[in-house]
Amino acid sequence: MKRFLLPLLFVLGVASAKSPAFTAKDLLGSARLSPAVPNPAGTLALFSASIYSFDEHKSTKSFHVVDLQVTNGKVSKLWDDKNIAETTWLGSGDFVAYLKTNGTKSELWVAKAILGDSAGSVQQVYTFPGVVSNLKIRSLGDSFHFVVSAPAFKDGSIYSEDSAPKKHSTGRVYTSLFVRHWDEWISEYKTNLFSGIITRVGDEEFKIGPDPRNLLHGTDLETPVAPFGGTGDFDISPDGKHVIFLSKDPQQDLAQNTASYVYAVPFDGSAKPKAINPHHGASSSPRFSPDGSKVVYLQMRENGYEADKNEIFVTEFNADYNFVITQIAKQWDRSPASVIWSANNNYLYLIAEEFGREKVFILPIISTSPDQNSHLDPNVTLGEFSASEIYVIADTETLLVSASSLTSPTFYLLVPATKGTATPLMSPMMTLNNVESTPELGTWHGLSRSQVSDFWYTGTDDYKVHAWMVKPSYFDKSKKYPLLFFIHGGPQGAWIDGWSYRWNPAVMAEQGYVVVALNPTGSTGYGKKFTDRIQNEWGGRPYHDLEMGFDYIEKNFDFIDTKNAIAAGASYGGYMINWIAGQPLGKKFKALVCHDGIFNTINMYATEELWFIDHDFNGQIFEHRQHFERWNPVGHVKNWSTPMMIIHSSKDYRIPISEALAAFNVLQIKGIKSKFLTFPDENHWVLKPENSLVWHKEVLEWMAEFTGLKVKIGEVESGQPAESAPEMIADGQTVPHKQDILNP
Ligand SMILES: *[C@@H]1O[C@H](CO)[C@@H](O)[C@H](O)[C@H]1NC(C)=O
Ligand SMILES: *[C@@H]1O[C@H](CO)[C@@H](O)[C@H](O)[C@H]1NC(C)=O
Ligand SMILES: *[C@@H]1O[C@H](CO)[C@@H](O)[C@H](O)[C@H]1NC(C)=O
Repeated sequence: MKRFLLPLLFVLGVASAKSPAFTAKDLLGSARLSPAVPNPAGTLALFSASIYSFDEHKSTKSFHVVDLQVTNGKVSKLWDDKNIAETTWLGSGDFVAYLKTNGTKSELWVAKAILGDSAGSVQQVYTFPGVVSNLKIRSLGDSFHFVVSAPAFKDGSIYSEDSAPKKHSTGRVYTSLFVRHWDEWISEYKTNLFSGIITRVGDEEFKIGPDPRNLLHGTDLETPVAPFGGTGDFDISPDGKHVIFLSKDPQQDLAQNTASYVYAVPFDGSAKPKAINPHHGASSSPRFSPDGSKVVYLQMRENGYEADKNEIFVTEFNADYNFVITQIAKQWDRSPASVIWSANNNYLYLIAEEFGREKVFILPIISTSPDQNSHLDPNVTLGEFSASEIYVIADTETLLVSASSLTSPTFYLLVPATKGTATPLMSPMMTLNNVESTPELGTWHGLSRSQVSDFWYTGTDDYKVHAWMVKPSYFDKSKKYPLLFFIHGGPQGAWIDGWSYRWNPAVMAEQGYVVVALNPTGSTGYGKKFTDRIQNEWGGRPYHDLEMGFDYIEKNFDFIDTKNAIAAGASYGGYMINWIAGQPLGKKFKALVCHDGIFNTINMYATEELWFIDHDFNGQIFEHRQHFERWNPVGHVKNWSTPMMIIHSSKDYRIPISEALAAFNVLQIKGIKSKFLTFPDENHWVLKPENSLVWHKEVLEWMAEFTGLKVKIGEVESGQPAESAPEMIADGQTVPHKQDILNP
């Protein structure tokens, strides 16, 4: 495999001051950049930035373009407007279409993006009767075919809060699953896809044709697929005549099945949607080739297994929707998260996790004959850092990659797909964060790549286990640092060389810890077998891998004080904290931090996505109770003695808060030092900046009490009403990555 490594500049010397290069307040109060999207001409890229101010207790949102034709990319601000929900390029010029929220309605606007400090002409084109989202546009000269998603009334029209029947009771009745999903109670209004046409009627004047039409009416289908689907769940054909979209099969129980299919439907709604792929597991990333002749999509084999390998399928596309589908790169032991086409229709570009990084790969489509393609392994195009989104620049072979690292939030790179060196576009990040000198690539705010390293050790059954290590910026190898032992969620997930606003290893390391984040059995990016080996083994193989990892750290890193150690984890990582608390490993830590952990595996039947627990415990509770009991933390609470902090919030419907209440009851009754933190308005993740700052303060103070470190967080003011704080999704990504979902 040919790798295209980025030129890395290593900063020499170590900061002498033992104060954090950056704190939780810096983490949460800096600009969060969305992925950058190039215009069809490849001259500009559009991105948004959200900034939360802890002084004013409010957030601002701005929209910018970066000039792709100048070195380092000069940035121009288009708008400062919190009501603009999303933007997309319109046509091949510099027009941008955007959705703006006005009360209970969405408005469609068109504006001209101009380099300089002001936006060009702006025009409101349409008002939808309700709130719509996921605007996607296909340009056909002077007409622009678009789709948006919105909840629909039974008659197929867009749901409008103003015309919905008024209710005088809060009662809800369910006769099928789901009842609730992620952080919402399921409503009677299904999310459908609506198609419409914007026409250019003057130089800078646009109007919308007939009212948008519901393409899913009368089908029970829903798209995007909840709770994390977005514009990546559908596509419009280059000739504007067809739409492909993902939906789960409404005939199957939604809580027990992961199966979803790619459906094709005429853009004008003249026929009902038809599923184009065979019934297996979950499908994703359906994309028309630029010439419209083919469709690529990803699909898992196994229904009911959300972490099965994503396989790559290509089909010729024809208007009668009868397709011959070919699997390509069958033997490739990686699970791509997303796929796009090259401009010349000859290659696919994929983002896939490998060895703790989200890499970009290139895969040729020589022909759709299985014989010629089955032996091909994709080549690595970008093997450093973690890519979140990729776009092809115009008709070139250069990609615009939005990436991050363990030492930097979102930055943008121009990456040649086959040969040449990546060119960073650092100015968006510098401009938005008021940084004056260009940082080392993949770093910011005083952090350095020299803080990050990784190592491998031998785990259960001789499998090699990978782990990341993050040291403080002022690290001195002659000194000893307390260990912070990070256990990820999923369990089918991984710690990667990427940025996160939750469980950020760098913000913890800056407090004076050496953070070790391990990817034991069940982790993704190390081949299907390694991931699959956790089934029915929750407290088994991964537990032993963690024990062996702890021993390896003890024997190999003199600068880590394993007698002064804390273990912390969320979701499955929280389950593991509850598990190790009753096992020998738990006694090696001074204290534990359990975020949204499972305390009693039997109670997981109160979760929403039942396929998950049925798969991982290899059977349903009434048939295979012994599997659930085997690795049940509640069975070992008699042995609990290590101090534990518990965090769990009310809107966590994946792992209900009763788990935390039961565990805290046990800790308190047993007289074990313990602390409980809860937020009434947060889900499986703590997203609101003010809440997240409290999370950091409480967790850091808890750990410092046992490790003897001093907490430096920036000031937290008391008495701020959490309700008023807006939510911020990391990076403003429309489709959160698996890691985000699994690693709260
Ligand atoms: C992949 O790498 C091989 C070996 O370097 C090379 O021969 C081949 O052309 C590459 N393929 C692509 C699509 O870049
Ligand atoms: C919201 O829509 C109403 C009705 O069209 C309009 O009068 C008002 O100016 C809009 N508000 C904003 C903030 O754009
Ligand atoms: C629990 O504690 C008892 C008594 O100290 C000990 O014999 C047993 O091995 C412990 N079990 C575990 C799983 O640590």
